[in-house]
Amino acid sequence: MTKLAIIGGTGLTQLRDLIIIKRDKLSTPYGSPSADFITGELNQKEVIFLARHGCPHTIAPHQINYRANIWGLKQLGVEQIVAVAAVGGITEEMVPAHIAIPDQIIDYSHGRRHTFFEDENYPVTHIDFTYPYSQKLRSALISAAAKANINISPIGTYGCTQGPRLETAAEIKRMEKDGCDLVGMTGMPEAALAKELAMDYAAISVIANWAAGKSAGEITMTEIEQHLHVGMVNIAELLKSFIALV
Ligand code: HPA
Repeated sequence: MTKLAIIGGTGLTQLRDLIIIKRDKLSTPYGSPSADFITGELNQKEVIFLARHGCPHTIAPHQINYRANIWGLKQLGVEQIVAVAAVGGITEEMVPAHIAIPDQIIDYSHGRRHTFFEDENYPVTHIDFTYPYSQKLRSALISAAAKANINISPIGTYGCTQGPRLETAAEIKRMEKDGCDLVGMTGMPEAALAKELAMDYAAISVIANWAAGKSAGEITMTEIEQHLHVGMVNIAELLKSFIALV
């Protein structure tokens, strides 16, 4: 059976209804992962869960050891990853509490350890990244949403910023011109590292707020938490429906 992992972001440090079987504390050649890897059963299927920001949530997006997280999942035999992350909505459709399954990425992050292919253990390698997400997993997520009657956007370009601060209104304007629909801080290098290790990877973006300058006034943490609370109810249903399909 193909081993599936779910990486949880802000608002998803624990998987609702997961029956926990074991916890693995792993060390990797790249250092410590964000948290223990939790193996459990969701809807009678085995799933490995990892809290991207740690449990409790203490690791900022730019400080996450993405390499250790992805390496740890590979060590556990994971072949498929579904990564959940909170984002800001840029384009009209991406309203707070809505869900999108992005199909493209623009990476604005910097200074992150973003590749495994940089030491003497590896020859110089340039992975193909034309389509950064697994089409197979994306299709399964889109079908799962339809089955569960959850309205989602089946495509979208995800722009990854460095954080931890939110963006300026001018940065969002530029990102919109670039073609970004969504803005988040954790999509990269996670997606690329998974691809470097030949793992299928897809993302679920849950919109926590209108991106900077897209609504009147400033973005508040209260607003983010409220929208995530609503969005996460649908995420839980979507994940259950997805697991029944794969
Ligand atoms: N920008 C970047 N990352 C985010 C946002 C945002 O507006 N909301 C949630 N994660």
